Amino acid sequence: MAFVKVATIEELEEGIGKLVETESKRLALFKVDGKFYATDEVCPHRGGPLSEGDIEECEVVCPWHGWRFNLETGVSPVNPNVKIQIYTVKVEGSDILIEV
Ligand code: FES
Repeated sequence: MAFVKVATIEELEEGIGKLVETESKRLALFKVDGKFYATDEVCPHRGGPLSEGDIEECEVVCPWHGWRFNLETGVSPVNPNVKIQIYTVKVEGSDILIEV
């Protein structure tokens, strides 16, 4: 595991997701209440783009069919068996790094 720079803090708007890519993964990056979160980009339902989802109460809402995932845990609030991967985010200066 290593931290990889994926964006700068100036590129993120509060409550607006951003698709970022590393060599091996496509991830969704979010800023909510000034804190940064990184999740899988692909929704486990049918592959919807989570970086395009709305943010409500620290949950991302998939834009395709509305499945929700908690940004802290990755768990769906309606079905605890459904979960997305959450990644550790670190800020260094103005750089955002994700552990992948
Ligand atoms: S693809 Fe995400 S809710 Fe259906």
